[in-house]
Amino acid sequence: MGFLKKTGVALTATAVSCLWLNRQGELEQTLQSIKRDVSAIQERDPAAANMVEALTCYSGLHAIIMHRVAHQLHRQGLPVVPRIISQINRFVTGIEIHPAARIGEGFFIDHGAGVVVGETTEVGDNVTIYQGVTLGGTGKETGKRHPTLKNNVTIGAGAKVLGSVTVGENAKIGAGSIVIQNVPDNSTVVGNPGRPVRERGRKVGAADVDWTHLPDPVADAMQSLVRRVVEMENEFKAAFPEKREAIEKAQKEGERELDKVFDYYHGTGI
Ligand SMILES: CC(C)(COP(=O)(O)OP(=O)(O)OC[C@H]1O[C@@H](n2cnc3c(N)ncnc32)[C@H](O)[C@@H]1OP(=O)(O)O)[C@@H](O)C(=O)NCCC(=O)NCCS
Repeated sequence: MGFLKKTGVALTATAVSCLWLNRQGELEQTLQSIKRDVSAIQERDPAAANMVEALTCYSGLHAIIMHRVAHQLHRQGLPVVPRIISQINRFVTGIEIHPAARIGEGFFIDHGAGVVVGETTEVGDNVTIYQGVTLGGTGKETGKRHPTLKNNVTIGAGAKVLGSVTVGENAKIGAGSIVIQNVPDNSTVVGNPGRPVRERGRKVGAADVDWTHLPDPVADAMQSLVRRVVEMENEFKAAFPEKREAIEKAQKEGERELDKVFDYYHGTGI
């Protein structure tokens, strides 16, 4: 089928579905999400010159628009139609997203072709994935069998994340990696099988040369005690309003002395 015919089929399917959603009162929420998807392209792709370019030239955006419509229809329990829209989506954009997949705001699929997103996938906000990414099952699980991606995750071209694993907030998966285990927040994982090269922002295996922030158990214990005392004082104030003024006065007087102690433990004057 030619390009114009394909586009015509996709536009007709989306328009008819939008009319249905409008009748059900769900259209506004869907349009809001699509608006965030358009801004995500402008924020994250320096090649996107303006909104018209984003709307016309990004098959990843076309795919997520069709998915958002299919997902709403799926949520309303409409049989078969959401799957048909998903198949038209795959046919037109080369991106297959199951209508049941839950995708957060600001989702950006760059380049697009060859992306597969499975039925029980959950995606947080501001996630970016590149062409050839699979968010799939291992074939061994039932029920929740696809990945969960937390907010701000980036997945490089061709990477496969398989099974009911969780990819933590701000994590990056390198191009071509295969991930079958949970990925902690703020980590970077590369290779097959995926191994962390960065954890919580630090290079794995590199010497820790941060000599200025050594652990101080005494200061930690004192801070914990002070926190608990303040919590108790606040509860006391709430329970006995007549004592409020006296407690606040004592707190103010003690604050200055406490500041001196904490300054000492944080290294001031040593
Ligand atoms: C993983 C990535 C995000 C870089 O993260 P980073 O934390 O800056 O990692 P570094 O560049 O410091 O590399 C750390 C190590 O991982 C290796 N590495 C980086 N990316 C890798 C990848 N995709 N596959 C295998 N190894 C990789 C590096 O060689 C380095 O190894 P070393 O420590 O033995 O020297 C980046 O390399 C990547 O793959 N980005 C995806 C880009 C993409 O898909 N673009 C598509 C455009 S169309």
